[in-house]
Amino acid sequence: MESAWNLLAGLGLFMPVALFLLLKQRKSRVDTKIHPPGPPAWPIFGNIFDLGAIPHHTFYKLKEKYGPVIWLKLGYTNTLVIQSAETAAELFKNHDLAFSDRKVPLVLTAHNYSQGSMSIGRYGPNWRMLRRLYSSKLMITKQLDQTKVLRQKCIDDMIKYIEEDVAEAQAQGESGEIKVAHYPFLMTFNLIGNLLLSRDLVNPRSIDGHEFYDAMNNVMKWAGTPNVADFFPFLKWVDPQGIMRNMVQDMGKAVRIVEKFVKERTEEWKSGRKKTNDFLDALLEYEGDGKDEPDVISDQNRRTIILELFFTGSETTSTTIEWAMTELLRDPVAMGRATEELHQVVGPRRKGTERICVGMSLAHRVLHLGLASMLHCFEWELGGNYTPETLDMNEGVGITTRKLKPLRAKPKRAGRTTNDK
Ligand code: HEM
Repeated sequence: MESAWNLLAGLGLFMPVALFLLLKQRKSRVDTKIHPPGPPAWPIFGNIFDLGAIPHHTFYKLKEKYGPVIWLKLGYTNTLVIQSAETAAELFKNHDLAFSDRKVPLVLTAHNYSQGSMSIGRYGPNWRMLRRLYSSKLMITKQLDQTKVLRQKCIDDMIKYIEEDVAEAQAQGESGEIKVAHYPFLMTFNLIGNLLLSRDLVNPRSIDGHEFYDAMNNVMKWAGTPNVADFFPFLKWVDPQGIMRNMVQDMGKAVRIVEKFVKERTEEWKSGRKKTNDFLDALLEYEGDGKDEPDVISDQNRRTIILELFFTGSETTSTTIEWAMTELLRDPVAMGRATEELHQVVGPRRKGTERICVGMSLAHRVLHLGLASMLHCFEWELGGNYTPETLDMNEGVGITTRKLKPLRAKPKRAGRTTNDK
């Protein structure tokens, strides 16, 4: 809801300009193009006010009335919403190339991020090179098998941090209730740090090293905040909500830190230190195939790739774990079955499968092991005076579909360890 208010506040700021344009446009022309069906749009604002607090829920309701292909005008942006497997298959089959580029939110043009990015960069030789590089150097089964020990270490640390935080809170007379998503977020953040840069980036027990973590947290926050300037490009320079200014500042901090990491690594190489075989080494060693691939990865693109992996890898995984824990805490029978099963047969080994997302094989491993370890090592009780019946299940708006109200729960050590496996 906070984000919806932010957007409305932004809209309020330019209301006088909009009213002027609205009156002007009303007099001028009527849109006569033929589009798929959709709710009637206001001049200027289009369907923005139809979106509601959770747009994907609204889309789903609109499907009943307008069918699976819906046309919306969001300010100045024409938007096509596809909501059935059949129409999606048809779109990808017949119009794949035309729709393969993603909409670039204004904030992600800060520090030229969108240019070197795989998630929002334009489809072409650079994008294909990135996809190949991710698949062959980071997500390949051999590499994933070799980095198993890193995942286990980051998960063990997570369990330890939960235990320590609960003990410390209880020693101070508090209930020991924790904000659940914080821990898997920290865990995946450090995991990405190890896979990319061979280092733990944030230790919650130390005041050092939080700068990058805080800057990246803010980058994700600004990227997930609805920005009125995305719908009304003429507001780009005004930046009414200040989102771009904040993004430039926070992404700038993160970029400078990444540049420092890269510089340190190249100096280590020069001084003859053995290569670490992490993803930064792969980026520095990259050479194009002499055909359509770029010959080298530019400094700017290299830092975007590094930022992007923190960006795409951490919140996705922690949000999924938080939702899974929420569903389990809402259903004590399912929770009982899951913990019992884990107790009996901990961690069945299954092969990851490729899906839509280039990081899925990593997510598949770390998500299941992370969630299973949390369930296996602790007995969980709902916090915040919630019961399974009253637990808040609302979704927020952002880059991932986070819980609107973070899940709070009380972990009690179950006397088992992740090494029981
Ligand atoms: C539960 C965890 C995850 C979920 C649910 C998830 C989901 C997604 C989705 C839906 C997309 C867009 C795909 C499309 O539009 O075609 C995507 C893209 C992407 N993801 Fe993930 N992801 C997860 C974990 C990860 C991890 C761990 C990484 C890497 C460390 C990662 C890296 C990426 C990248 C680089 C892209 C953009 C390139 C592409 O389209 O393949 N993701 N992810």
